[in-house]
This record gives sequence, C-alpha cells and structure tokens, in this order.
Amino acid sequence: MYRLVYMSTPRRPLSGEELTGILAAATKNNDRNGITGILIQDQKRFLQYLEGDQGRVEQTFARISMDPRHHAIFRLKSGLIVRRQFPGWSMASKTVDHSASLTSAVRELVKGCDRDVAEELLSFAAARDRAT
Ligand SMILES: Cc1cc2nc3c(=O)[nH]c(=O)nc-3n(C[C@H](O)[C@H](O)[C@H](O)COP(=O)(O)O)c2cc1C
Repeated sequence: MYRLVYMSTPRRPLSGEELTGILAAATKNNDRNGITGILIQDQKRFLQYLEGDQGRVEQTFARISMDPRHHAIFRLKSGLIVRRQFPGWSMASKTVDHSASLTSAVRELVKGCDRDVAEELLSFAAARDRAT
C-alpha cells in the first residue's frame, strides 16, 4: 500500500458548492482507481492524504497538482505503508472553521488508523496550526 500526503493553498476561498464539486469528482475517480483517503480544508490550506496503488496515487496527485483551484502544493510524505488506513472512504472530508484547529479535525479522522500513520498526520496538522 502506497500513501501520499500533501498540503496546498486554495487560490481563493472556496464556496460550499465548489468544495462539493471537488469531492464529487474525487469520490467518483478514487472509487474507480481504488484510492481512499481524507481531505481537510480550513479556507487557507488543504491537507490531503491519498492511499492505494502507487501508480494510481501518483497519477491522481499529478492531476490534482495541475488543478487551478489551488497552488503552493507541497508533498509532505510519500511511500509504502503496511495496510490501507481508510478502507471505507473514497474521500472523507472535513471543513475546519477559523477558530478550530486542523489538529482536532485530524484527530477525529485518524481514530481507526495505525499509530505511525496517525502520528504522522497529526504532526503535519500540528505544524500547520503552529504556523497560523
Ligand atoms: C484540493 C483538491 C483535492 C482533490 N482531490 C482529488 C482526488 O482525491 N481525486 C481526484 O480524482 N480528483 C481530485 N481533485 C480534482 C482534480 O484536480 C480534477 O479536477 C479531477 O480529478 C478531474 O476529474 P474529471 O476528469 O472526472 O472531471 C482534487 C482537487 C482539489 C483542488
């Protein structure tokens, strides 16, 4: 199992409708490609975790990277993990409002994950929270 984590910045704040559109495309494509994961956004940043076949994940990330709705796309981590972490989610999502922390959103989503993957995602979220 291969996973990739990145962070990016929306070009401008997304409307609920735009976010719904992104999630609809993500769910449809990821389902077909055997990709699962999570997408967290707080208007200033996206944090996304993708997992599945390496080629498919990289292909999907290449497509996402060309999407004009966001920029400043940084790959935080990629490589093999022992097993799929989000088997039930072709793309779980969470919107964090300004007052809430990314860390608390991640903590909720990683409840069923292996400890190393959970801690990795929490550390990315915590770094982001410290930077705000
Ligand atoms: C933050 C963000 C996350 C995205 N996540 C995914 C994703 O997980 N899977 C996916 O196929 N497309 C995702 N997209 C959408 C792709 O960039 C692209 O628009 C879409 O894959 C095109 O699909 P279509 O050819 O079926 O319209 C994401 C876009 C953004 C801005």
